[in-house]
Amino acid sequence: IGTVVYENSVIASKSVAKEIANLIREKQAQNEPCILGLATGSSPKSLYAELIRLHKEDGLSFKNVVSFNLDEYYPMEPDSINSYVRFMKELLFNHIDILPENIHIPDGTLSKKAIGDYCSEYEAKIEAAGGIDLQILGIGGNGHIGFNESGSLQNSKTRLVALDHITRVAASSDFSGLNNTPRTAITLGVKKIMEAKRVILMAWGEGKSNIIKASVEGTVTNQVPASFLQEHSNATFVLDQLAASKLT
Ligand code: F6R
Repeated sequence: IGTVVYENSVIASKSVAKEIANLIREKQAQNEPCILGLATGSSPKSLYAELIRLHKEDGLSFKNVVSFNLDEYYPMEPDSINSYVRFMKELLFNHIDILPENIHIPDGTLSKKAIGDYCSEYEAKIEAAGGIDLQILGIGGNGHIGFNESGSLQNSKTRLVALDHITRVAASSDFSGLNNTPRTAITLGVKKIMEAKRVILMAWGEGKSNIIKASVEGTVTNQVPASFLQEHSNATFVLDQLAASKLT
């Protein structure tokens, strides 16, 4: 695992955006699609703002980008205020030239019995595209990646999961209270995250410093799913000074 520490999240996000832009342009030069794994939440917001800037001011095109989002709450309507579909549209997709047919976000509207097949198809689409070239991750206070909560196995598949209490508490202000906060979500499994050719996990602020230390320096354990990334050959944690402050 590599760690790179920047003075603040804005500078850090610019460097991640630059790496993504370089990869997109490299693939364009080879006439190939660029397969991006994308996250929601607060951590990638400044990354998406910078990608939009690169599109508008630097001519970066996303026409060869195929995206797969990590997760979506279940149940969730796509036009609901808290859906990850809406988040991605408002913070990124509506402002760039990605082709709508190249966007993939887990569907929060399925019937329960359709979810199993849907999740297998989601993974099959990633495989058919050639696998994820670059996966963007945030990290939960409990070490979750995607919504792979504590206890998720390293070979876990894309599936319906129960959200941890701590995850629901973190989300509860968005849903105006814990009672209205979803109890379940569909998440890409750990296995597909680990199969990504490149992984960048972003974390900002002191609140993340303990879990960053556990993920980077602690034992590899399914209690802290982000610690699995110690076994990835090309994973980097991009941190601000506060998130890195407990690293030795
Ligand atoms: C979001 C996701 C989650 C978040 C994590 C951190 O798609 O998969 O794992 O990355 O909960 O959230 P923030 O960035 O809001 O602290």
